[in-house]
Amino acid sequence: MRRTRVCRRPLWLAVSFSRSIVSAVARHAPIITAFAFAVVVLGACGPDPGGASPSAGVTVSAPPTGREIFAANCAVCHGAEGEGQPNWQIAKDDGTLPAPPLNGDGHTWHHADGLLYRIVSQGGTQFESPRDRGFKSAMPAFGDRLSHDEIIAVLTHVKNLWGDKIRMGFSIRESQALLSERDPFPPGGE
Ligand code: HEC
Repeated sequence: MRRTRVCRRPLWLAVSFSRSIVSAVARHAPIITAFAFAVVVLGACGPDPGGASPSAGVTVSAPPTGREIFAANCAVCHGAEGEGQPNWQIAKDDGTLPAPPLNGDGHTWHHADGLLYRIVSQGGTQFESPRDRGFKSAMPAFGDRLSHDEIIAVLTHVKNLWGDKIRMGFSIRESQALLSERDPFPPGGE
């Protein structure tokens, strides 16, 4: 009996130790909950890189938002809300395609972040190939006009245009996020 009691002591110590951790966590639960809540609330209220633009006429020194970059560089072809040009799947006489919708109605969400970045940075001519029956790209390269961060901001805005759209039973944002795990945005500072 005595041996058993001695042998049980470490177990009892371990149990009482873990109990004290549990009770410490329980004691601080309100603080921990309040902290987690603050993180969520502050995070939700934080600036949205592709989000709302400041009201018209206000001069701000902050870098342009994704929406502003889109309005200044992309909307002329892709439409103010990324709706694309009519008959965007039918090639024109010069072999180029009209600008497709970027708002989730086309197939932009089939492309991972890394590929979207390369399309905007290097333009569409990189995809021209003799096998594509004379396909010519009218998508300009923005690598010399937009910074690394601006390209990511404008693409974040494009992805925000997708909202909660569902295709084939899946959220297109989630499908594209999965694809992007293997081909993410390139790291900055290049
Ligand atoms: C001069 C017109 C024009 C402008 C300006 C333009 N695009 Fe495009 N874009 C196109 C065309 C046309 C295509 C279709 C692909 C092709 O022909 O190469 C395209 C394709 C794309 C694609 C691939 C879409 C897909 O579904 O495969 C993305 C992404 C894109 N553009 C983003 C942008 C962004 C972001 C901007 C602004 C920074 C921009 N484009 C400015 C004409 C334009």
